[in-house]
Amino acid sequence: MEFFLDTAEVEEVREIAAWGILDGVTTNPSLIKKSGRDFKQVVREIAEICDGPISAEVTALDTDGMVSEGLALKEELPENVIIKIPCTPEGLAATKILSDEGIGVNVTLIFNASQAVMAAKAGAMYVSPFIGRIDDTGADGMDLIAEIMTIWDMYPELDTKVLAASIRNPMHILQSMQMGAHTATMPTKIFRQLVKHPLTDKGLQQFLDDWAEVEAAGNA
Ligand code: E4P
Repeated sequence: MEFFLDTAEVEEVREIAAWGILDGVTTNPSLIKKSGRDFKQVVREIAEICDGPISAEVTALDTDGMVSEGLALKEELPENVIIKIPCTPEGLAATKILSDEGIGVNVTLIFNASQAVMAAKAGAMYVSPFIGRIDDTGADGMDLIAEIMTIWDMYPELDTKVLAASIRNPMHILQSMQMGAHTATMPTKIFRQLVKHPLTDKGLQQFLDDWAEVEAAGNA
C-alpha cells in the first residue's frame, strides 16, 4: 500500500521522507492557504524532496480552464507532479483529456462509489474518497471504501488506484489496508501515531537501562 502525506508544509515532507516510507504527497487549496506560501514554489520544493506523485489541484470550474491549468502545472513543475481535479462533469471531461495525454490525474472530492467509477472510466490515475468528511456527517466513511473495493475486485481491469483521503485517525489507515485500498493520504500527525506504541518506548528504555548496567560491569 502507498502512504502519501497530506500537507503543504515542506518541513513535514522532509521529516516523513527521512523515514524512508513516503510514497507521495497530496496538496489542496486549503492546505496551500494554511502554509501562507506560493503554491507553485511549495509544490516544487515538495517534488524535489519526494519523488513519488505530488498532487497539485486546479481551481478552474470549466473543462477548458482545468485542462489549461493542468497543462501549465505540468509544464512549470517537476515531472512527478500529477493534477488534482474535482469530481464534477467538467472535471471528468478534463480528466479524460489530460489522461489521454499521458498526464496523471487524481480525482478528488469523491463521496460515493459511482463517482469513483466515473472517474476511473475517465482515466484517473487515482480516485480520492474522503472518509473523514463522511464521518463528519454521521455516516461511516469506511463503508464507502468497502463499497468501492468490492466494485474494484469485480473489475480487475480497472487500473485506477483507490486513494483513501480525509484520514482522521490511525484506524482509518488500518481499515483501508484491510479493505485493499491501494493508497492512503494522511496528515503528519497520523504518520507519527502509526509508528508510536507506549510498549515500544517502555521496552526501549528497559533495554537502555539494562545495557548501561552491562557496560558498568565491563561486559559490553
Ligand atoms: C486529499 O487529497 C485531501 O487533501 C485531504 O485528504 C482532505 O482532508 P480533510 O477532509 O481533512 O481536509
